[in-house]
Amino acid sequence: MIGHRRPTVLLVDDEGSTLEVLSLVLDSQGFDTTRELDAGRASRLIETAAARDRPFDAVVTDVFFDGRNEGAAVLAACRDTSPRSIVILMTGRPAVEGAVAAMKMGARDYLQKPVDPNTLATVLHRALKEQQVHREDVTFKDLVNILSDMVAHTIERVDPYTAGHGERTRSYCRQIAEKLGLDRQTTERLELAAIAHDYGKIYLEDLTFLTKKGPLTAQEYREVQRHPEVGANKLGSNSHLVEACTYIAEHHERWDGTGYPRRLKGSALSPAGRILCLVEVFDSLTSRRSYKAPWDLDKTLDFFESQSGRAFEPETLDAFLGLLEQHGAEWLDAPLRDLEDAGVVPKRV
Ligand SMILES: [Fe+2]
Repeated sequence: MIGHRRPTVLLVDDEGSTLEVLSLVLDSQGFDTTRELDAGRASRLIETAAARDRPFDAVVTDVFFDGRNEGAAVLAACRDTSPRSIVILMTGRPAVEGAVAAMKMGARDYLQKPVDPNTLATVLHRALKEQQVHREDVTFKDLVNILSDMVAHTIERVDPYTAGHGERTRSYCRQIAEKLGLDRQTTERLELAAIAHDYGKIYLEDLTFLTKKGPLTAQEYREVQRHPEVGANKLGSNSHLVEACTYIAEHHERWDGTGYPRRLKGSALSPAGRILCLVEVFDSLTSRRSYKAPWDLDKTLDFFESQSGRAFEPETLDAFLGLLEQHGAEWLDAPLRDLEDAGVVPKRV
């Protein structure tokens, strides 16, 4: 929802059956769609809507109409009259070629045909949320809600076992930051980073390995390692999220320089980033994943105590261990409780 209205989407494709399927699903997911078979008429619709000060929130267009690249004209009409409209291209081209073409044309995203309507709905929700973050009057509370919603619509949808991971990470980060005496503004920015730290995963080429049961291949691991910087780049053009994106980019680095992607070491890692790195590991180890059982408290404590001055900065680690002593049982139970609440696993009796 944008304010209290449904987001408007113009769907353009020369195949009527494609339009029908896409609009049925989008309408059922809270969008208000308009269908158009002809690229020229679509451009005029875009211009008219803009002239009435009611531009489409999003335009989803095919690229080739009868072999001619008329999608470019639709995109140009948006760029000229409704620069805030999000444009998604549907293309039959292979992934890499399609992505390059879409970027050159200034589209927000592209989808390979045949387009799955639910994937399109997810892409649109994501793009509209990302756009809301840019509003000048956005508050910390708004940002928390927007980012939480973005993660729930994207990462948690692909991998339901991550339900609650962002919110738990946020809570533990805040508690450690308070214990270490970080100022309020830095703490709030760290909380935003905690919620959205894995957001870049949704932009990886292949999402199937996020839920893979066995170990990743070398190629898959290299691909996964892109997610901190991809996430930071996707959210980083936003003035409200500049510092949060520094922490997002750092969240897999390690104090001793053995992390990724930049192998940052020691004080090169921001104090808030050090907290996020540690908490991210803690919550991942103590959560059930498609490929592993959760760790118990003894094993978790042994591991973290062995990493002082290695993976984690000693002062941050001490603050964390102090809190773990206090909240250990509750924090270790939290992932399962969140999975139960999200309906991913049955509730315990
Ligand atoms: Fe991550």
